[in-house]
Amino acid sequence: MKKAFIFDLDGVIVDTAKFHFLAWKNLAESLDISFSKSQNEELKGVSRVESLHKILKWGNTSISDEKFEKLMASKNEEYLAYVNQMTKEDILPGVEELLVYLKENKPPIALGSASKNARRILDKVGLAAYFEAIVDGNEVAKAKPNPEVFLKGCELLGVEPSHAIVFEDSVAGIEAANAANMISVGIGDKRILSEADFNFEGFTELKPDQFEILINFNK
Ligand code: BG6
Ligand code: MG
Repeated sequence: MKKAFIFDLDGVIVDTAKFHFLAWKNLAESLDISFSKSQNEELKGVSRVESLHKILKWGNTSISDEKFEKLMASKNEEYLAYVNQMTKEDILPGVEELLVYLKENKPPIALGSASKNARRILDKVGLAAYFEAIVDGNEVAKAKPNPEVFLKGCELLGVEPSHAIVFEDSVAGIEAANAANMISVGIGDKRILSEADFNFEGFTELKPDQFEILINFNK
C-alpha cells in the first residue's frame, strides 16, 4: 500500500513560527491590542488574512479595507526581513535527516503550507529539491482547518488521503488532516496537539521503530 508524507512548513520544517509571532505581536501592539503566546497558538497554520481578522476580533477593533491591506503588507515586510536572514541553521533538528531518508526510500513527499512565502523559504534553506509537490497559500482558496491544501497535495502525489501521513505543529493543521481522514502527526506540545493520531516533541524523537509504526498505521 502506497503511503505518502505531507509536511507543513512553518514550525515543522523551519523555525519560522517565532518570526510570525514577533511580527504579529508588533502589529497587534501598534493597534493597542494585547497579544499573548496562547493567542499566537490560534494563529499557527492560519492564513495571513484570517490571522489579521482574528487579531482585530480579539481587540474588538474594526479598520478600513485600505488599512487592512496596509497592515498585512507591513506584517509581511517585517516577517520577510527575518526570513531573509535565514540559513540552514533554521531548519529544525532531524528534518533534513528524515528528508534524506525518505528520498532514498522513495515514498512521495509534498509540502502543504498556508504560507505564501513557502517557496522562498524552502529555497533559502536549500530544501526545495526534496519535494515532489509543493502546495502553498497561493494555491488554495480555503485556509486550514479546511483540508484543501493537504487534499491538493494527495492529488498531486496520486495517493489516497487515508494513506497520507501529515506532519503539523498547529491545531488548525491537525484538524485539517483529521477532517480529510489523513494520518495526523503533531510536532510540538502534545497537550496542545491532543487531537493528533501521533505526537512527537520534534523529529529527533522519531526513531526508526516509531517510523515503522507510522508507515504501517491504518485509519
Ligand atoms: C502558516 C503559519 O504556515 O502560514 C501562519 O503557521 C501564517 O502563522 C501562515 O500566518 C501564512 O503565512 P504567510 O507567510 O503567507 O504570511
Ligand atoms: Mg505550521
